[in-house]
Amino acid sequence: MVHLGNPDRSGFVTWLDLQQIDGRGHTAVNIGKSKIVVFGGLVDKRFLGDVVVYDIDNKIWFQPECIANGSDGQAGPSPRAFHIAIAIDCHMFIFGGRYGSKRLGDFWVLDTDIWQWSELTSFGDLPSPRDFAAASAIGNRKIVMYGGWDSKRWLSDVYILDTMSLEWMELPVTGSVPPPRCGHTATMVEKRLLVYGGRGGGGPIMSDLWALKGLIEEENETPGWTQLKLPGQAPSPRCGHTITSGGHYLLLFGGHGTGGWLSRYDIYYNDCIILDRVSAQWKRLPIGNEPPPARAYHSMTSMDSRYLLFGGFDGKSTFGDIWWLVPEGDPIAKRFTSSSPVSFPRSKDVGMENDNSMSAVQESQMEGSAVDALLKRLDISVSPTSHGIQIIDEFEDKEFLDLASRLTEETVSSNEQAIQVLRDHWNKSSPKSIHLKEVGPLLRDYQRLITRNHLSNGGPNLQSIQLGLSEKETSTFYHLKNASQLRMDDIPKLLEEYKKLLPD
Ligand SMILES: *[C@@H]1O[C@H](CO)[C@@H](O)[C@H](O)[C@H]1NC(C)=O
Ligand SMILES: *[C@@H]1O[C@H](CO)[C@@H](O)[C@H](O)[C@H]1NC(C)=O
Ligand SMILES: *[C@@H]1O[C@H](CO)[C@@H](O)[C@H](O)[C@H]1NC(C)=O
Repeated sequence: MVHLGNPDRSGFVTWLDLQQIDGRGHTAVNIGKSKIVVFGGLVDKRFLGDVVVYDIDNKIWFQPECIANGSDGQAGPSPRAFHIAIAIDCHMFIFGGRYGSKRLGDFWVLDTDIWQWSELTSFGDLPSPRDFAAASAIGNRKIVMYGGWDSKRWLSDVYILDTMSLEWMELPVTGSVPPPRCGHTATMVEKRLLVYGGRGGGGPIMSDLWALKGLIEEENETPGWTQLKLPGQAPSPRCGHTITSGGHYLLLFGGHGTGGWLSRYDIYYNDCIILDRVSAQWKRLPIGNEPPPARAYHSMTSMDSRYLLFGGFDGKSTFGDIWWLVPEGDPIAKRFTSSSPVSFPRSKDVGMENDNSMSAVQESQMEGSAVDALLKRLDISVSPTSHGIQIIDEFEDKEFLDLASRLTEETVSSNEQAIQVLRDHWNKSSPKSIHLKEVGPLLRDYQRLITRNHLSNGGPNLQSIQLGLSEKETSTFYHLKNASQLRMDDIPKLLEEYKKLLPD
């Protein structure tokens, strides 16, 4: 049953302008296992304020047009970079950051189910405006934030925010404390917050590792810092790196430090170092192939045992590339080494026998629908959750096929021909002539054609997007889960966009 007129429908989607994809100082968070939400960033001295979403299952970037209820009627948070962003369930909380030389102290939440921003009025010990702070979620209710730069000082304060009551509390920490810093990482591991590196007072880039306890109220521990000196191949001093938690270990990637004696210069890194939580030591991760170019101020999110790297800056250029880092046993990596019947261009140099070894797979190497089909066959697409957009094949879309065969009244013999007749019919239809029962199948065929056109352009590949988006296409309804989210007055626009998607 299709219900039209549901007022809950969120905003709109437009195809991406590549300019808006690349960036540094943006944040990326995973929501469930199906999407990565990127917000803000800095490109060519321009601060960004838009939300860009990567749909993992369908490998599509889309850009929801978010609705908002800011205190002064703002359409969402102002453009910014070097803020913090934390995901809890379907919500992304952001705080602070920088716009130009102004440090920000506003606090927002984005509901990624309906793409609505809300500016939050919090209370308690409000943290000062700052950028380059680091934060992590404590369970699925609280957020802990440490350090940053308030334009005058490096900070070493610790704040805990309760996302239900919206109360901030500055954690009173006694004993020895780490030097103030910014550009560090803060990662919750079990009940401790692990802080690594960053840039401190006077400017040295640091390589110290600290653990903070006493963050969980129920534990009744006195908050306190402990410096950890772990054995193994520790990382060189750095800031602007990422530490991403995935299963038994934490993965440190990239960042920058300084080199030289007489004149100091910046060195950017692309090494992968893991902090093994079981053996409590640092280890270099052997990489089976050429790693991505060195960078800092990128983002890295984890999905099960995989990591997705996006963007960054190497002192000269800002990147907009996307890479997966996957374990050697991962079917994505295996397909590079196995003698699979599907051939993969540029699929060389991957694979080592070492269990610990990982492979960097650039997303752009996963070309076309052949790869997509293989991934499906191997059943390795991350399982769709209620947040995902599920695109079903036309031959599995019963309602669509029924409609097609009814329309042709058995005058054609094959499903393919019937589908062609149905698409021709919609190509000639006017909004008024669309029946209610056609809306669901039409929306699904629209989403199917977007996915297909996108994949035939080579997927989310830097060059292909540039070519494919020479004229800006819109796909306003791509992210809708089903037709019940459509309003009656959306039909003309849906039909208009659909007609543009039809192959000639
Ligand atoms: C915005 O919406 C949220 C949730 O609906 C609400 O809690 C908040 O008070 C609203 N804020 C403003 C400024 O209207
Ligand atoms: C559409 O989605 C809503 C919730 O997302 C669900 O309750 C409803 O049953 C779905 N309708 C159809 C026709 O699948
Ligand atoms: C759709 O109709 C237009 C004219 O009404 C025609 O030019 C175009 O080729 C048709 N597209 C398809 C895929 O049949």
